[in-house]
Amino acid sequence: MKRSEINTIMREADAFLRAMHFHLPPWAYWSLNDWVAHRAQAQEVMRRRLGWDITDFGQGHFKTLGLFLFTLRNGTLEALRAGRGMCYCEKVLICEPGQMIPLHYHWTKTEDIINRGGADLLVQVYNAGPENTLAESEVRLLSDGIWRTVPAGGIIRLRPGESVTLEPYCWHRFWAEDGRTLVGEVSLVNDDQNDNCFYEPVGRFPAVEEDEPPLYLLVNDYEHFGLLER
Ligand SMILES: [Fe+2]
Repeated sequence: MKRSEINTIMREADAFLRAMHFHLPPWAYWSLNDWVAHRAQAQEVMRRRLGWDITDFGQGHFKTLGLFLFTLRNGTLEALRAGRGMCYCEKVLICEPGQMIPLHYHWTKTEDIINRGGADLLVQVYNAGPENTLAESEVRLLSDGIWRTVPAGGIIRLRPGESVTLEPYCWHRFWAEDGRTLVGEVSLVNDDQNDNCFYEPVGRFPAVEEDEPPLYLLVNDYEHFGLLER
């Protein structure tokens, strides 16, 4: 993705979040110089990969296959192994009309996908079969704490305020029906480097072509700009 395209998506997403009365933490609006100035105190923000995450899944067609995410909080794998402390993650997502995400599941993470407002959100689910196939079995899952059963490949409609719980090894993809949707994600600790199984071979993060300076930094930029201490 060109940096200019990422900057435009950031501006539009920020306007939509504000219109939906959803507010981001102060470091969301730091410039690269601000990050350099706050480098020492912001190590934990960067280490937990909090912040802007805009992806075309490496395919170059953000408007049809892409997702806007912002990670608000994220625990650590150390806490997860210890079974105490911050074992959770929260993100806000924006789904655009006509935009799909790739079918995927997680080996470890259970996530609640929540329609926080806007258009209806449609969620398609399958159980994972052997060797990452799509099982033909029906899928049983919780939706706002109520058990639901849908056929393989069934589509669950989430109206504003509704949510679904996606357990590990449950294939899923979701899209906004005919308008923009503000989506919440509440989950176990998020590990995007190691916990995404995609049905089609795609990447999790975009390759960035630097055609103008970044408006705000993406989560991958912390390392790219040498801000993250080892
Ligand atoms: Fe997921």
